[in-house]
Amino acid sequence: MSHVPCPTSHVPCHYNVPVRSRVANLPGRSVRYLEAGSGIPVVLLHAFPLHAEHWLPQLAKVPAGLRIIAPDLRGFAGSEPLAGLSSADVSMDTYAADVLELMAHLEMPRAVIGGLSMGGYVALAIARVQPARVSRLLLADTRATADTPEGQAGRDRMLALLATAGPSGVAATMVPRLLGETTRREQPDLSDAVTRLIMENAPEGLSAAVRAMKTRPDSTALLPSIACPVLIVCGEEDVITPVGDSEMMHRAVPGAELVVLPRAGHLSNLEQPIAFNDALYRFASS
Ligand code: MLT
Repeated sequence: MSHVPCPTSHVPCHYNVPVRSRVANLPGRSVRYLEAGSGIPVVLLHAFPLHAEHWLPQLAKVPAGLRIIAPDLRGFAGSEPLAGLSSADVSMDTYAADVLELMAHLEMPRAVIGGLSMGGYVALAIARVQPARVSRLLLADTRATADTPEGQAGRDRMLALLATAGPSGVAATMVPRLLGETTRREQPDLSDAVTRLIMENAPEGLSAAVRAMKTRPDSTALLPSIACPVLIVCGEEDVITPVGDSEMMHRAVPGAELVVLPRAGHLSNLEQPIAFNDALYRFASS
């Protein structure tokens, strides 16, 4: 076990509590996850093309009564590259099964499950296959719909870019869109931090995720049947999954709450961590 200390972390944040970096040795693969706090379990799933440190501002400030777990999804950062699967074999259901297996390993029958963007696609997959394991659901800067044909063509361009330019090519293309215009203007260090997170991922893990996003199912029909409390969060300046996507989910999920964060883009939890944490901690603790 090691602590993830502030000075060496790419993500700038002040730590109230130690964040531990751990490895779970599961049958046939190992998973790196970050953990902080104790109490109600909260599992947070990162966006593409980041990794578990995407959630450092939430881990570092976790209040009494919550235990946050943030894994690297299969093939990302410290989770063994693809662990026996080819990149074409990985789907959102693969990631969902992986998260459920980690929860079982950690003796967590149920948890608050939260995901941002791709992490939200995985959270929706978990809500579809094992709703009883989800006590509450956080969907941040994500959407329920599948890729359009235009979106799928964009995935093919991303795969070609990965093959020729690797993670640095992906970072150069995506970082300006991942962060909102206010953040790019007022927090220039965050662009560098996000770039460094992206560069810590292996190309195979990233290409598996691109394929998994390209082939993910439409979850729109699932939304009215979600029975647990749902919080939807979206950065007002998100250009990847704009507020309209969140409003659509808000209309479809009975009793869902929607929080739109001003001055935040797609990576709203990194861009406006205080406002994001207020919403997350209140929701998870209630
Ligand atoms: C993400 O932030 O996880 C991805 O940009 C989502 C996507 O490309 O659909």
